[in-house]
Formats: sequence, C-alpha cells, structure tokens
Amino acid sequence: MTQPPQTPVTSSPLGGATGARAAAHTPGSAPSSSQDASPDTSPLAPADLPVAVIGAGAMGTGIAQVAAQAGHPVVLVDSQPGAAQRAVERLGDTFSRLVARGKVAREDADATLARITTHTTSDMTTVPPVALVVEAVVEQIDVKRVIFRQLEEAQSPTTVLATNTSSLSIDAITGVATSGHDAALHGGTSPALAHPGRVIGLHFFNPPPLMRLVEVVAGAASDPGVLEDASALMRAWGKTPVRCASTPGFIVNRVARPFYGEAQRMVEEGLVDPATLDLTLRRAGFRMGPMELTDLIGQDVNLAVGESVWHQTGQDPRYAPTAYQRDLVRAGRLGRKTGHGVFRYDDSGAALDASPDEALADRLVGGPVRTDPVARTLAMLVNEGVDLVHRGEASAEDVDTAMRLGTNYPKGPFEWLEEIGARTVRAQLEELDAAYPGGRYRPSEAL
Ligand SMILES: NC(=O)c1ccc[n+]([C@@H]2O[C@H](COP(=O)([O-])OP(=O)(O)OC[C@H]3O[C@@H](n4cnc5c(N)ncnc54)[C@H](O)[C@@H]3O)[C@@H](O)[C@H]2O)c1
Repeated sequence: MTQPPQTPVTSSPLGGATGARAAAHTPGSAPSSSQDASPDTSPLAPADLPVAVIGAGAMGTGIAQVAAQAGHPVVLVDSQPGAAQRAVERLGDTFSRLVARGKVAREDADATLARITTHTTSDMTTVPPVALVVEAVVEQIDVKRVIFRQLEEAQSPTTVLATNTSSLSIDAITGVATSGHDAALHGGTSPALAHPGRVIGLHFFNPPPLMRLVEVVAGAASDPGVLEDASALMRAWGKTPVRCASTPGFIVNRVARPFYGEAQRMVEEGLVDPATLDLTLRRAGFRMGPMELTDLIGQDVNLAVGESVWHQTGQDPRYAPTAYQRDLVRAGRLGRKTGHGVFRYDDSGAALDASPDEALADRLVGGPVRTDPVARTLAMLVNEGVDLVHRGEASAEDVDTAMRLGTNYPKGPFEWLEEIGARTVRAQLEELDAAYPGGRYRPSEAL
C-alpha cells in the first residue's frame, strides 16, 4: 500500500498504520480532530483508525465492543455465515440493557454500534485495509497461521497484526513450521511471515469490556516500537497493559498454576477437604478458593490450560497436572456447568456440599507449611513470579499488576515476597522440596 505524502514517517512500523488509516478513511467524510492533531502520540492512538477483529466469538465480540467504544471504526469478521451479524445483534441487546439501567447513554450506544460493520469470509485477503487487526478465532495453530499469512499478503506491511491467543507462541504463528496441517499443505515446510516485527500478542481477559488487563506479548521478532504503541493504544482503550515475552501461559496463566495445583495436591493427599481449603484462602483475601474457582471456570478448561503450560515447558514438574483434576474431568464432573465438579450445585449455581470445618482451618493455617494451604500456595506463587522476572520475561511491577487484575488476587507475588521475606519463602520451598522431591518445589535461583 502506498503511503499518502502527508503521512508522518516514524521509525516504528506503526508509522504505516497511519497510512492504513488514511487509505481506509471513508471518502468524503469529515476528518476528525485527532487526524489534525500533531502526531506526537502513538500512531495507533487516534481513535478513528480502522480496526479489524477476526472471530466473532465471546472474545472477538468483546474486543470489537471495546475498540468501537474507544471510537474506532471496527469490522468484525467471521467465517461462519451469520455469526458476526448475530454477535452485533447480541451487542445491541447488551447495550439496550445498559441504556435501560442508565449505565450508557442511548446516543453513545447507537454511535458505538454504528461504528461496527460485519464481514463474512474465511479469506482474510478480503478484509479491508486497517491499522490494527486483532485475531480471536479458535485456538488452533494451523488456523491462525493461515489467517496471518493471508493478512500479511493483503494488509499494508505496517498494519499491526495482533493475536488474542491464550496459549500459542507468537513465534509459532510467525515462524517456519515443519509439522502440522499447515506444513503439510506446503509440502512439509510452511514459510515464515515476511514482516514478523508487526506481529504481537494482545491477550485480553474474559469478558474484554469488563476486564482491565491486557497482556501485550512480544514474540522474538516483535518490534519494540510496535509493542510500545500497542501498549499506548490499550491505555487509550481504558485498559491496563502489561508487557511480557511469549512464553508458556504468558504471565497470568503461568504464575496462577500453583493456586490450583497446590490445592488439588493437598486434597488428593487427604490433608484437607475442598471446602475447608477454600475457606483458608478466602480468609487470606482471595475472592474465591481454588476449588470453587475451578468449578466456575470449568475443570476441563482449567486442566487444558495447565496441560498446555506443562507440555510447553517440557513437562516441568512445577506444572504437572494432578490425577485429582484429571479424574474429575474423566468423570464428567466439570463444575457448575455440569451441576457437579468438586462440589455439587443446584440450579441457581449454589454449592450444596461445601461446608468448611472452621476448626480445621484454624489449626492448619500457621502450622507447618506442608499442611498450611495459605503458606504453601503463597510460597509457590511467589516462586513463580520471581522466576518469571529472573528469566527476563516481565517486570516485577507488571507481574503484580497482571495477577491483581487478571485473577483478582488481593496482592501480587512481589507484594507477598516483601511481606513474607525471601528467606522464609526459600525455607518453606526447601521444606516442601524435602517432603516431595522431584523438582516441583525447587526454589528460584533469584530467591
Ligand atoms: N474464552 C476465553 O476466556 C478466552 C480468554 C482469552 C483469550 N482467548 C482466546 O481468544 C480466542 C477466541 O476465543 P473465544 O472463546 O472467543 O472462541 P469462540 O469459539 O467463542 O469464537 C471463535 C470464533 O472464531 C470463528 N472462526 C473460527 N475459525 C475462523 C476462521 N478461520 N476465520 C474466521 N473466523 C473463524 C468461529 O466461527 C467463532 O465465531 C482463542 O485464541 C482463545 O484462546 C479466549
């Protein structure tokens, strides 16, 4: 795509995003004030830059809503006939409810909805030129690779291409593939993208309009300027961006693993029953205990995330799935959605058999770390956070922000580290490591 002469040239490829905006601007429409403003902010920040969201499922629809509410014209793309249109209709219903409750003004709701158009295709070369694409289709590497290759072919080389993947590596999307369906289609080796610098992760949390956190994920080739501009854009959308490397689980889905894993191990071992365990963690400030939370998330969904991190880390024992959770899934005890998970639920979603033993909770907390659900969980959460920062994958501040906003933890791992002290955490982990050898409880070198 040729850049119009008035487009400011910047060192970041996002300079071209401004070009995409100009190219896609509706002919004859009045230029907005943000177009006239001097280009001293992120080239992605002007709210009239066109955005495409690929995938009109739960996440894509929410992301389209957020972008449109921030003022962007948004094209919502889905391969299933009628899917994008139905998503916009549902959004209309949501806005009508918000208007009725006085949460949104009718004219703002109408203006937001008017900014969203739909496009049905599985050929991404037909997506109109935009400044930013956010892909939110099924979590399948081959599907995503094809989409990014087609986008690369048709969009300006400077259009920022983002994926909302929760578990796939950015490099697996942009790099050469020698296995899988996509590689087979290319005779054994599927080529890398020509411009991987503009490919990043923008990992929104569910539901995107309500969750403030966005993990801005850097692949090995992602351009630092693009990451910077995308972070600025997320702030302009009212989000709180954190930066991280494209490693298994990014920040939230990795650091949170022991919150579930320690609970399941303690119950599996018979050290505590699920309801009492949940009580100890709620008393420690967590909004929900790990057992009720995994029942809410879905045991199958939670297990899949854990297994993905475990496999991607070469089956690191820190992330090994538990027989306890696998058995729940095998038995179809998936949680609230099946009426039975760790606990049984009635039709209103209330747990029927979650009666904690308060006296037991009192005895366990403050006792030896092996049988204290709170100390054991916090030591492991701190260890994960410290190790992630030690590996250079994110900053301590971003880890704390991500865990508070992404999981609703009362504090971040580094705040707990400050409170508990590195020496105590290390000693607790060494005690656990002695009780359960094998590497799961190895303390981070940085502790
Ligand atoms: N659901 C979550 O809690 C959550 C949270 C964060 C990130 N994510 C990630 O977001 C992505 C989407 O998740 P979701 O829960 O919204 O999925 P979903 O199944 O609700 O929606 C996916 C949509 O993509 C469409 N689609 C599939 N293949 C397509 C193609 N080739 N071209 C165009 N459209 C296609 C489907 O028709 C469907 O409408 C996944 O990568 C997922 O890992 C999900």
